[in-house]
Amino acid sequence: MRNRKISIFDTTLRDGEQTPGVSLTPEQKIEIAHQLSKLGVDTIEAGFPIASAGDMESVRNIANAGLTSEVCGLARVLTKDLDTCIDAGVGMIHTFVSTSDIQRIHTIKKSREEVVEMSVNAVQYIKDHGMRCMFSAMDATRTDLDYLIEVYKAVEDAGCDIINVPDTVGIIAPSGMYRLISKLDKEMNIPIDTHCHNDFGLAVANSLMAIEAGASQAQVTVNGLGERAGNADLAETVMSLHSIYGAKTNINTEYIVETARMVERYTGVQIPPHMPIVGENAFAHESGIHTHGVLENSDTFEPGIMTPEMVGHTRRIVLGKHAGKHAVLRSLQSANINPTDAQLDAIIKKVKMLADKGKRITDADLYTIAFDILGRP
Ligand code: KIV
Ligand code: ZN
Repeated sequence: MRNRKISIFDTTLRDGEQTPGVSLTPEQKIEIAHQLSKLGVDTIEAGFPIASAGDMESVRNIANAGLTSEVCGLARVLTKDLDTCIDAGVGMIHTFVSTSDIQRIHTIKKSREEVVEMSVNAVQYIKDHGMRCMFSAMDATRTDLDYLIEVYKAVEDAGCDIINVPDTVGIIAPSGMYRLISKLDKEMNIPIDTHCHNDFGLAVANSLMAIEAGASQAQVTVNGLGERAGNADLAETVMSLHSIYGAKTNINTEYIVETARMVERYTGVQIPPHMPIVGENAFAHESGIHTHGVLENSDTFEPGIMTPEMVGHTRRIVLGKHAGKHAVLRSLQSANINPTDAQLDAIIKKVKMLADKGKRITDADLYTIAFDILGRP
């Protein structure tokens, strides 16, 4: 994995917008698209143009915005869907069809043979229009393996540029994903992409396993948004690739937090404080032992291979019932308050008393406590 180049396909504006309750305006979508391009994602899935007039407008605006990222639109394997993407002016069409028996029988009601034929026709149609084509076998991880390979080989023969392997209901185990992608990698001659859902909290792990097994692209969303429990989170996937695996992407990681906060604002879906990398607490320390260590050398209680600066975050020392001497003293000194040892002990006692009552200690609280004990300057 070291030094391997992995492409990042962002679907915040498509699967991310399928988050229950989320609906973005065309103005918000274009702003997010500009931010994703600045972040350095290789491909932006701008939407599903057949879904609504608003989505069509958004996809068209984004396709014409002159972004560095490639712009992609989603389409079923139906000519009317493909035509909307062509009209929107995207550079790539991501076309999909259900291949698992459960979805094929109960949703599209087509035979296996019909699905192969529709897939091949869609890919040929896209290629005849001179566009790049990604094909997804929806619910790939619940599809009979021999049949899955048959579908993928048929679309490869039809000229498809890249196949996507969706774990549509997020049910595969990381070891299973590794085996599946290894097998497909042996069978296929075109690049492999993955699209992992997070129903069991395994979306990032499964994406990383797919990449270890030979996939060269991962589909992600900002803040892990998406249908149900969401998709593989962009920040977690990219930072794991960079910092743990030593792989490379085109992501400018210093914009990760800025992007996460923009998407939080526009979607109204709050980032949980303990969310890895972008959460408010991702680089915050409260316990006395931890803060003492971190104030000496931040690698003591942080990964070190990922710093807050790398992702545009800041380190915070939080005062609470676990606060230690070093943290309180450092906070006071940064405000030019220099207590004696005895005064510091009295301040800490008061801080812990308040914290025990469930109070969150702000800087203003700390200064008030200190001035009560030291007297006002
Ligand atoms: O989850 C899924 O299978 C999808 C497809 C459209 C790729 O979102
Ligand atoms: Zn999906």
